[in-house]
Formats: sequence, structure tokens, C-alpha cells
Amino acid sequence: MNLSVNIAGVTLKNPVMPASGTFGNGREYAEFVDINRLGAVVTKSVSIKPQLGNPPCRITETASGILNSVGLQNAGVDAFLRDDLPFLKQFDTRVIVNICGHTIDEYAAVAEALLGTGADLLELNISCPNVAEGGLSFGVDPKTVQRVVAAVKKRSGQPLIVKLSPNVTSISEIAAAAESAGADAISLINTLLGMKIDIKRRKFALPRKVGGLSGPAIKPVAVRMVYEASRAVRIPIIGMGGIMTGEDAVEMMMAGASAVAVGAANFRKLTAAADVLDELIVFMNENGLNDITELSVML
Ligand SMILES: Cc1cc2nc3c(=O)[nH]c(=O)nc-3n(C[C@H](O)[C@H](O)[C@H](O)COP(=O)(O)O)c2cc1C
Repeated sequence: MNLSVNIAGVTLKNPVMPASGTFGNGREYAEFVDINRLGAVVTKSVSIKPQLGNPPCRITETASGILNSVGLQNAGVDAFLRDDLPFLKQFDTRVIVNICGHTIDEYAAVAEALLGTGADLLELNISCPNVAEGGLSFGVDPKTVQRVVAAVKKRSGQPLIVKLSPNVTSISEIAAAAESAGADAISLINTLLGMKIDIKRRKFALPRKVGGLSGPAIKPVAVRMVYEASRAVRIPIIGMGGIMTGEDAVEMMMAGASAVAVGAANFRKLTAAADVLDELIVFMNENGLNDITELSVML
């Protein structure tokens, strides 16, 4: 059975990877999951300088999903290169480094710091707040998306995946903007903005009030957006949002994704990503499919 997929010239031995921010940088999971089985590992967002993240509470449960407000806590790119990348390079899998910034220059500087390192692909998290635009996410305006993608392309070495925010009116327009500025692939969706109020305490469940919703609740939105984006661009798409099972992954691929990422499910079960892969293989066997690319054929 052929499970390998090609994302922007890089071959992944299978299409299943953990989603950024839900798998640490591999270390926390390595004891429980055989990382060599995954098509890739996607790191937590890496910024140019260390970031403390938001005050607790950072995660709260909702019906069929979780709301998080972690705030992109990370030790910065120097520490990442020293401590995390060598660890991840031990495994027989691809390393996708997710990068973030508060300014276009910060994004480009992180990409530049990763030049010539073992990172196989970069993933640009454009859901970060843009300081110059009063904190609005980079990913909500096609012109800003073009500017940040073009700037990072200029200073980076590895193929670039642009990770889209779903908090937009037209995902097709944003996807096309990323492609036109040089994106080599697209991933989507990041979390949807949400809010929860603890009515007994009469307080917001998260101190920052608004958080990002992920998990099964967002899957239909993700499937719709992956489908729309796939119609708008020619570059490959990594689909995510609420994938809990192999059948969810199949659905995402039928919508137009070439590969899939498993996020919130990793918090429910440490082996979630590997289990999704196993279940995907079962589906292919049961349906007489020998090549992963046959999955996307819709009747
Ligand atoms: C706790 C948590 C932390 C996350 N951190 C990041 C991050 O650092 N960078 C990023 O691009 N996405 C981050 N995400 C978004 C996920 O990668 C993914 O796009 C989203 O959760 C949708 O997938 P899911 O429904 O399978 O979780 C985070 C999600 C969660 C739940």
C-alpha cells in the first residue's frame, strides 16, 4: 500500500501528523508514541525571542471541543535550535517548524534563523496578532497575507506552508493571496474564535475572555474551508480541525486535503495521531484502495 504524499517537493511517508501546539515539540509524547510512524512532526509555534504566553487558565472544555488561550508560549528560536530540533531529527520523520511573529520582520527573522538547519518545511502561523495593525491577526487581510508570505519567502530556505486562520469571510481569497505571494502549500484551519462564561462565578472562563476553539465541534467548518481553499489554489493542502478518527481524516482528504493534522485529539489520547493513521489504513483496506491518492476521488 502506498501511503506517501508529496508536500511542496518533500515526501512524507504517510499523510498523518500532529497539529502545531498539541504535541509539544515531540519530547512529551516520545515515551508513549512511536514518532517514527508519523508522516511528520509539527512543532509548536517558534518566535524570534522567548514568549511567556498568557496567564492561566489557558484551556477550558466546551461541548465537543476545547477553548485555548495559550498565547504561543515558547523558548524562542535559539533555544529551539539548541534543544528541540536535534531531538526531533533523531526520528525517521519529517520536521515541520511552525513559526510566528508580531511583525513581518520577526517572522522573516525566524525563517532566516532556520536556514540550513534540519527543518524540512516551515509552517507560517498567520493567526498571530499584528502589532503594527493594532493586534489584528495577519491572516485576516489578503494584502497583509501577501506581504508576510513574500517577506518570509525571500529570507527562508525551506518550502513554506502557510497556515490560514478560519476567522475570515472568504477563505478562498486568503488562500489565493498566500499562493500568489509564493506559498508552496497551505494548511488549515487554525482555531475559531470563541468565548465561554462561567455563569456561577459570573466570570469569563479564560482571563483573556476570547480563546481558540478546536476539536470535533469545528470539523464541519474545517471540511468546508478545506474544500473551498482546494478550489481556489493549485498548491497542496494540509487539512485539520476536529480530526479524531481515521474516518475524519478520510473526509478531510475527500474535501481536498493531501495530508492531515491531528490536534485536540492528542489531549484526549496520547496515541491519537498514530491511531488515526491505523484507522486510515483500515479504511483503505476495507475499500480496496492501494494508494493514498485514490482517497480523494469523489463519486
Ligand atoms: C492547546 C492548543 C495550542 C495550539 N497552539 C498552536 C500553535 O502554537 N501554533 C499554531 O499554528 N496552531 C496552534 N494550535 C492550533 C492547532 O494546530 C489546530 O490548527 C487547531 O487546534 C485545529 O485542529 P484540532 O481541532 O484537531 O485541534 C493550537 C491548538 C491547541 C488546542
